[in-house]
Amino acid sequence: MPSSPQWLDSWAPADGAERVRTLFARSFEGAGPDGVWFAPGRVNLIGEHTDYNAGLCLPTALPHRTYVALRARQDDVVRLVSAQTPDEPWEAKLADVAPGTVRGWGAYVAGVAWALARAGHEVRGFDAVVDSCVPFGAGLSSSASLECAFAVAIDDVSGLGLAADDEGRTQLVEACRRAENEIAGAPTGGLDQSAAMRCGEGTALLLDFRPGLSAVESGQPVPFEPASGGLELLVVDTRAPHALVDGQYGARRASCERAAEILGVDNLREIVPAELDDALAKLAPSDDDGVLARRVRHVVTETERTAAFAEHVAGGRVAEVGPLMTASHASLRDDYEVSCRELDLVVDTAVRAGAVGARMTGGGFGGSAIALVPKGDVGRVVAAVDGAFAAAGLTPPAFLLAPPSAGAGNG
Ligand code: GLA
Repeated sequence: MPSSPQWLDSWAPADGAERVRTLFARSFEGAGPDGVWFAPGRVNLIGEHTDYNAGLCLPTALPHRTYVALRARQDDVVRLVSAQTPDEPWEAKLADVAPGTVRGWGAYVAGVAWALARAGHEVRGFDAVVDSCVPFGAGLSSSASLECAFAVAIDDVSGLGLAADDEGRTQLVEACRRAENEIAGAPTGGLDQSAAMRCGEGTALLLDFRPGLSAVESGQPVPFEPASGGLELLVVDTRAPHALVDGQYGARRASCERAAEILGVDNLREIVPAELDDALAKLAPSDDDGVLARRVRHVVTETERTAAFAEHVAGGRVAEVGPLMTASHASLRDDYEVSCRELDLVVDTAVRAGAVGARMTGGGFGGSAIALVPKGDVGRVVAAVDGAFAAAGLTPPAFLLAPPSAGAGNG
């Protein structure tokens, strides 16, 4: 068994801020940045592939953040430098940003400015640098943290004031989602941006994606302090290569839309659990291989599990969520078919080694799994998962602890 599992630690906030201030001074001449802003990565406790089905999700923010140092410009030029590729600055004019015109990681950033401008806000160009300890490609929403860190920065230097309250933050979420969907071209659902922008320390956020809800109705904080119940939220980055992810994600969305069309509903949230059997029967004639039925069953049961999970947490019964996590994972594996060998191995091994519950988190096909683990058992669970990967000849996984942390802000 390997003796030293790899841990992905978050940076102390002051270190993150210092890193981007230093990089800014090295990258741009003249005055320093107007400020430093950040946004976190996220883990979703439960409620997977429900956001684009008008369902419920329950994310928390990670202590791992993307940091941005930014200085406003008078013109509409955007110049960006990333600590990961310091010698390859990214540059564009805001006037040239439109769906299909910009490429690379800067599209996520320029897309946010584009979406805010489309929403009627006056946005100018900027010089900015970015650095991040959100693991990249681990299914922990490093791209949403990038978008949201820039959203709060642009909001601040443009004097929009949207980040000041939850209502305004939902508008920033919408700008980030549009940036990702329309400019970066990833058809994601809004969970990640909502988490990065609206989560708070010591809480999970019960998100309700039904259309037309007010900010208050669409995101309710649920106090969630696993530590006070003697638990740790452990995240395992499987490091599994996720080939074909984009196509598979889009295919899942398309199946849900097709099922909703056949069922004559606007979205799958309109199918309540008591009507699930009738809905599945109605799908059968258009569903030879039963794929649509499996997708719908996952979506409907997952929102039900998410509501139950939130109730347990709100009632102080965190230790009782294990069976819901296990059921969620099984549903994602068997009905939604977005798990993979590595995710299943983490979940099975963690539960056998003492986790209260475990499940994949995020889109799937690789990425990360989470486990709620009694504090005293963390070492054992980590060693067991590390050992199981080694025995299976897999790339060693990486581990992080995820105390529920703050959403996007400045400093
Ligand atoms: C990805 C997407 C989200 C959400 C999850 C699955 O993280 O970006 O919008 O659909 O997958 O829950």
